[in-house]
Amino acid sequence: MNVYVADACGFCYGVRRAVEMASSAASGTHTLGPIIHNPQVVARLAERGVSPVDSLESLREGDTILIRSHGVGPDVYREAEKKRLNVVDATCPHVKKAQQDAKKIIEKEKNLIIIGEKAHPEVISISQWGANRAIILDREEMARALPPMEQAGVVVQTTFSQEQFKRIEQILADKIPDLTVYMTICTATQQRQQAAIDLAGKMDVMIVIGGKNSANTGRLAQVCREQGCPTYHIETAAELDTAWFKGMKNIGITAGASTPDWIIQEVVNIMENLQAEATEVMSEELLDKY
Ligand code: F3S
Repeated sequence: MNVYVADACGFCYGVRRAVEMASSAASGTHTLGPIIHNPQVVARLAERGVSPVDSLESLREGDTILIRSHGVGPDVYREAEKKRLNVVDATCPHVKKAQQDAKKIIEKEKNLIIIGEKAHPEVISISQWGANRAIILDREEMARALPPMEQAGVVVQTTFSQEQFKRIEQILADKIPDLTVYMTICTATQQRQQAAIDLAGKMDVMIVIGGKNSANTGRLAQVCREQGCPTYHIETAAELDTAWFKGMKNIGITAGASTPDWIIQEVVNIMENLQAEATEVMSEELLDKY
């Protein structure tokens, strides 16, 4: 049995930075919402006294609030200032750029179009920087249904699919004479998906590690299955079932952008032990044979 790990997997730059900032924050620090979609990381931070809150309401002067990588709208910064809170800003720089681009578009009195999922916290934050005046869409038919307009500026959710973006951009370019596109897609998601596709195409089975509620991990599992590769989405090594690998030769491992290295390593270690056992059994079988 051979075990391979995808070339690009696990924490992206923005998530790693946010988790490191949370890990080095003082006990008593709060994060505005769970820092990432990974319950094990959230639990570890809670043990160190860093826990999530839903809003700033319960916080008092001098308390510290950490803003996660998805970012927040300007109202949150204003409220934090008013309450005299200490702000640790872990907004991913790529998200920050998209927020600032949205602000710029509105300041130039242009129509603002955000290509992204309406309910995603990052898109909500970008929209808030655009004075809540954005038209938000994520499907081609939504772009086709737009009313006629002379000009618009476009910002894209950082994790949006490149292909889908290109299709929507083409429709907008055909409809809107004065269109400025701020390409704010971040390559981390794309790289993880491409590495998973490349690996799944050559494997007998894939293990995808990441939170069950993590959209990007779910998408990784989906692209592996689309390659026709049997795929198991697990959150931790404890969910591994040796029966999955019976008679399998090549096992691939990948992980979502919110999966920490220690969880990936645990899975790799178990798989390597299985690999060693399988080699031993094989040698014993060969000895019996000859
Ligand atoms: Fe930032 Fe890209 Fe990750 S936008 S949070 S580095 S997926």
